Formats: sequence, structure tokens, C-alpha cells
Amino acid sequence: MDDMVGASPAICGVFEKIVKVAATDMPVLLTGETGTGKELTAQAIHARSVRKQGPFVPINCAAIPEALLESELFGHERGAFTGAVQQKRGKLEAAGGGTVFLDEVGDLLPSLQVKLLRFLQEGTFERVGGQETLHVDTRVIAATNVDLKAAIDQNRFREDLYYRLGVLHIHLPPLRERGEDALLMAMVFLQQAAATTHKAIRGFSSQAIDALRIHPWPGNVRELSNRVRRAVVMSEGEEITRQDLDLAGEDVPAADSLDSLRAAHQRIETELLVKALMLHRGNMSRIARDLKVSRSTLYRKLKQYGLEKITTGFIQPPATTRAPRVQTEKTGTGETNSMITKESAVGAALGPISQVP
Ligand SMILES: Nc1ncnc2c1ncn2[C@@H]1O[C@H](COP(=O)(O)OP(=O)(O)OP(=O)(O)O)[C@@H](O)[C@H]1O
Ligand SMILES: [Mg+2]
Repeated sequence: MDDMVGASPAICGVFEKIVKVAATDMPVLLTGETGTGKELTAQAIHARSVRKQGPFVPINCAAIPEALLESELFGHERGAFTGAVQQKRGKLEAAGGGTVFLDEVGDLLPSLQVKLLRFLQEGTFERVGGQETLHVDTRVIAATNVDLKAAIDQNRFREDLYYRLGVLHIHLPPLRERGEDALLMAMVFLQQAAATTHKAIRGFSSQAIDALRIHPWPGNVRELSNRVRRAVVMSEGEEITRQDLDLAGEDVPAADSLDSLRAAHQRIETELLVKALMLHRGNMSRIARDLKVSRSTLYRKLKQYGLEKITTGFIQPPATTRAPRVQTEKTGTGETNSMITKESAVGAALGPISQVP
């Protein structure tokens, strides 16, 4: 399972909530735009919960025809409807001892909302066409990218179900509200894709970095991941270009006023830091030497641009199962630097899931 990448305050808040809700057995509601990581979050909660040895069973309520959804979710008895030639367990039963992930829960028909509410309240249900009341020990994590409050106002979603599901609520912020996380993730996705395609790509060109930073990412992390992976395949050089990312149409604001002098300065610094981090895989001594700054200046700059948590992400290859290594580096001023003793940006607050006790 992929670790979650991020270092922005917005995503660190999500990581903290994941840890907290994983320690309970209550239902969880995940909201957020498409591609923000709702399913990944559901998996992370499951993998850190006492149910981690049990199954994680996803079901997309919007992708299954209405007529079949009840049977998919709750199962059916033989002869319950035409074509029901044998008894079938539903996803709720299949997830017994584990977690069912109800994606696009806002699309549930009213009759199924009632049945789900009863399951959440009493832990019981009947299969379609069945008389027997069944009990199953399944945790429910639900997700939606529609506004359930609006759906309640339009009488399309039950308010009591909303409150039952949403006691524990985690909102996944859109990528455009996660600061430099887009760059950070782009670097991680690039490393992963370069490794699988055996391409010697060192990083992104300056224009590509600019484009990554100003693109609004309507498709969020999924769009970023797809663009970077595709760019790695298309790339013919050592660097991913803006064209490789297919972000060629973006307008980079022209640096034509005094006010933007500072912005340009910051852009160049960020770009150099990102490139050096990639080139030297987070080796602080080499980066400081290459950029001709002291290590303490380097740490200060990394912190200033929210890049300090990236550093340990490079010490080990991505998607490793080892815990981030804790370092006790000394700064040029002789103090122990706490910035890089923290978690790696690859699963910054969560750490590799397989390390969870
Ligand atoms: N923080 C993250 N770090 C690394 N990868 C991520 C992160 N968040 C999401 N992804 C990746 O982005 C893609 C989309 O994530 P996911 O499927 O969880 O989004 P979603 O919110 O369920 O989207 P949708 O609403 O479209 O179903 C997946 O490939 C996932 O692995
Ligand atoms: Mg999803």
C-alpha cells in the first residue's frame, strides 16, 4: 500500500486525524474533491486500526446499477429475484472483521439509506429476499465528493444517516490548498516512475517546476500522479519538461514589477533547493557544498519554503517498509537540528503503514 505523501499544515492535520480515528471503531465520513485521496485515507485508517488483519472491502455506490446495489451491499437469498440462482453474501458480510468502504455514499437510494442506518445503529440487516436477521462486525468508512448538506436540503440524503456517519469526519483538502505538497509529491511520483521505467531522469526543468506550482490541479493528486507518470514515459531527456507534463499552455506570470522581484527570488531559491534535493537525494553536506551555503543556512531555507520534511524522504527509497530513519545531524552553529529529526515527507505523520504496531 502506498504511503501518503505531504508536509503542508493542511495534510498534516489530516494525518493527525487519521491516527485518532484509527484508534476507534466508529464510522468515519471522508469528504473532498475528486482525487484528493479519500480511498487512500480509508485504507490508511483501516491499516492502522485493530481490524488491520481483516479485509478492506471497497464498494462504489455510484458505479453499481441501482437494482443491483442492495444485493451487492447486503447480499441475497436464492430465488430473491430473477437470476438469483444461489445465495450470495454482500460486501458488508465479506468485510466482516474488517472495514467496508462505501464510496460515493451520497448516491445511495433512500431505501438503502434506511437499511444502512439500521446497520450502523444495531449492526443488523437482512439479505435481499431473506427472513433471517444477520449480525456482522464490520466497520463503515464512507466517502463522498458531493455536498451532503445540500443533498439533505433537497431531501435526497437522510439527515439522521448523515449524523450517524459523520460523527468522525475528515475533509481532504484540495491539492491547491496544500502549498508545496504538489512539488513534493511530484518528486516522489517521479522517483517511483523513473525506478519502474528504468529511466535516468534527474528531476524537473525550471519551467516544469513553475508550471507544477501554478497549475490549479482540478483533478488533485490523481491528476498530478497521472501527469508525472505520463511525463516520465514521454520524456527523452534527463529532465522532465513543461511539455512532458502537458502543462505547456500555463501562463507563468512575467517578472516585470518590483514587487515580483522578491517572488522571482523565492522561485529561483525553491527551484534550486528542489533540484539539489533530487540530485543529491537529500544529502545535506553535498547540497550545502553545491549551493555554496552553510548547513545552517540550508536548513533555514528549507524550512522557509516548507521543504525541510522532504529531506529524510530521500534517505531511503520510496515505498520502503522501513521506518523513517531518525537523524541527529548537527547544524553549522553546533545545535542539534530538529527539522530533519522529524518524520519523512513520505508518509510524514503516518510513517509506513507496515510499521504500525
Ligand atoms: N497524500 C497522497 N500521497 C500519495 N499519493 C496520493 C495521496 N493522496 C492521493 N494519492 C494518490 O492519488 C490517487 C487518487 O487517490 P484516491 O483514489 O484515494 O482519491 P479519491 O479522493 O478517492 O478520488 P475520487 O473522489 O475520484 O474517487 C491515487 O492513486 C492515490 O494513491
Ligand atoms: Mg475514490
